[in-house]
Amino acid sequence: MKTIRLAVVGGGSSYTPELIDGLIKRWQNGEFLTEHLALIDIPQGKRRLETIAGFVQRMMQSAGMPCKVTSWTELAPGLEGADFVISQIRVGGMKARQADEHIPIKYGIVGQETTGPGGFACALRTIPAALDIARQVEAVCPDAWLLNFTNPSGIVTEALIKYTKAKVFGLCNVPIGIKMGIAQALGVEHQRLSVDVSGLNHLSFVTGLYLDGTDIMERVMNSPLLGAYFDRIKIGRDLAFFVNELSVIPGSYLYYYWSRQKAIRDQLEDISSGKGTRADQVMKIEADLFKLYADQSVHTLPPELKQRGGAYYSDVALNSISAIVRNVPHTEVLNVENLGAVPGLPEDVVVEVTTVVDGSGPKPVAQKQLPVGILGLVQKVKCYEQLTVEAAVEGDVVKAFSALINHPLVQDGETAANLLKDILEANSEFLPQFKATEIPGF
Ligand code: G6P
Repeated sequence: MKTIRLAVVGGGSSYTPELIDGLIKRWQNGEFLTEHLALIDIPQGKRRLETIAGFVQRMMQSAGMPCKVTSWTELAPGLEGADFVISQIRVGGMKARQADEHIPIKYGIVGQETTGPGGFACALRTIPAALDIARQVEAVCPDAWLLNFTNPSGIVTEALIKYTKAKVFGLCNVPIGIKMGIAQALGVEHQRLSVDVSGLNHLSFVTGLYLDGTDIMERVMNSPLLGAYFDRIKIGRDLAFFVNELSVIPGSYLYYYWSRQKAIRDQLEDISSGKGTRADQVMKIEADLFKLYADQSVHTLPPELKQRGGAYYSDVALNSISAIVRNVPHTEVLNVENLGAVPGLPEDVVVEVTTVVDGSGPKPVAQKQLPVGILGLVQKVKCYEQLTVEAAVEGDVVKAFSALINHPLVQDGETAANLLKDILEANSEFLPQFKATEIPGF
């Protein structure tokens, strides 16, 4: 069996055990053995890192998997010898996410981790740190593949691809979640389905659906079969009708664009009922999870982890790693350089698209054009994403303003300027790249 050395940056995340559960299954399946797992985190995260390291060691021991687990609070030594590096960091932790979610609400815009002004703030904080990780990968383990799960995943991956030479691709659990959701609605095993996916991270669409290789898209779209799925992604029956007309199946993030008024209403209701924003909720879930991880009698994945949103991210990461290690072509939806695969978007931007992964990494599969009723939104969001990457790298306040005003949830000069001021102020300790914070004209 092939063996690998894996480094996880942000190893102290409450998500990590899902990844380890996946590593154990791959080994039990005879796909590959992770002989060394290096968990890396920042010094402030040492306690959590040690709790996770202890827990994942118990998981491996109870499964009998021979793997050396090490933990590091410095990046370079932790990366030494890695064949694969997974990046899953959260700059500023859950507190920064909480601010990201609360600031937009002041301006009547939904506060969301990755979409809209919240995702924009997260990108400004995260891109410099993500670039630093990639540059250290280039220096310490240049042959390693860097898998980016750090949010906002598509935007961060675009920065990594444009500004570093590391071997990078991005991943997200939404596309696999869409496939699982469709399989459940149709009452078939998800392994029997395959999908054509095209678009951007947190804004991608299934445009082709196959059951055992037979095209079933038209049949499914013209039937009530997907009703339960549309309910789950909060697309009302009226919008579901329109989506059917366009013959695409969206993921759950379309709700923030197409039901933006409802999204903010729902969020305000959650806040006034005491439920809080998602970050407020996740803080409580994480506190409970870490208690379980620290409990010496627990050595398997606690079902409580299902309360977090990242389900199946380890499948996407490990399916890809397995295909690379064994050089067996495998189809997976990933975030990669477009290279013409998604028509209507520039060649050099990152898209979320069906790829074929083998020993040489993922290659995007050419897709048909998205329907015009969708393409405009995708192009606009990509325009915002490109400007956000440039703003974060250059610390350029004008580009930052330009990014925000181009976001479909903003599109107003005064709102963009106020949001930007608030975001720069709330994140000042994480944004040393922004020397000037005055927005000309405002
Ligand atoms: C999904 C998204 C991730 C996001 C997560 C949030 O999995 O794809 O990008 O980070 O949900 O989950 P949480 O439990 O943190 O709200």
